[in-house]
Amino acid sequence: MIKEILVHTEGGVMTITLNRLERKNSITLAMYGAMADAIAAADADPAVRVVVLQGHETVFSAGNDIGDFLDRPASGMESPAFRFLRGLPTFSKPLVAAVCGPAVGIGTTLLFHCDLVYAGDNAAFSMPFVNLGLCPEAASSLLVPQMLGYHRAAEALLLGEPFMVEAALEVGLVNRVVPPTEANGVAQAAARKLAAKPISALVETKRLMKQGQQQRVLQQMADEGAIFSRLLVEPAAKEAFTAFMEKRHPDFSKL
Ligand code: COA
Repeated sequence: MIKEILVHTEGGVMTITLNRLERKNSITLAMYGAMADAIAAADADPAVRVVVLQGHETVFSAGNDIGDFLDRPASGMESPAFRFLRGLPTFSKPLVAAVCGPAVGIGTTLLFHCDLVYAGDNAAFSMPFVNLGLCPEAASSLLVPQMLGYHRAAEALLLGEPFMVEAALEVGLVNRVVPPTEANGVAQAAARKLAAKPISALVETKRLMKQGQQQRVLQQMADEGAIFSRLLVEPAAKEAFTAFMEKRHPDFSKL
């Protein structure tokens, strides 16, 4: 295990905590790998009945580590990032998230795969893939229009505009909004409630709710992955990543 991903299991609940606050919980390849391993282990372990994903009360995640995007553009189905992504819709047990502060890129798109989401009133969601020369991932090009409606999805995915917790609550991405200091506790309480229920009934109910579109979601992820891998090494993305590292605005005028 690595120190940027903390994994703790107690009372049937595995809690995965993003712990890279100095980089706003942005996610490196090693962190994707550790989370993918934890989720796979949780699925296989009968002692784990629920998984909670959480960040810090000031920030959930700033998305993919941009230095990694630049230096080690992951591609292919076996990359740790893709392993993590595929593990979300195929995870058979309940997945609960606690989200506070910025949730950027994968920090927002992973929520569409969670069963319950509790948010701090400081939560802000954004999917600025286009601004980075990229396309959506985690089947968000399918799931965001389904949940937000096409035009709001276009605002989020084409304009790359953030949306606040009130909008997330209204569309049903978030179950409940609480003070940031309480979000992790509220998620834990829900997870403990779930963990006390009969596991077969939970797993079958989740499977039945999801079965109509699981294959579609996995196919969309694969389609997005192929395009994402190509865009990741194109000049627009390189300019966006370099601009972020150099703390300047990107210049796409010649691209
Ligand atoms: N990858 C790598 N480093 C990141 C990062 C990321 N995704 N997000 C933030 N950091 C780093 C910053 O470069 C900064 O480093 P420094 O202290 O060496 O200058 C540090 O984390 C703190 O970030 P900062 O931007 O100063 O914090 P903030 O509170 O003003 O803003 C965010 C927080 C999340 C809104 C902002 O950091 C952000 O927009 N990050 C990029 C998000 C992004 O585009 N992610 C990719 C999505 S696909």
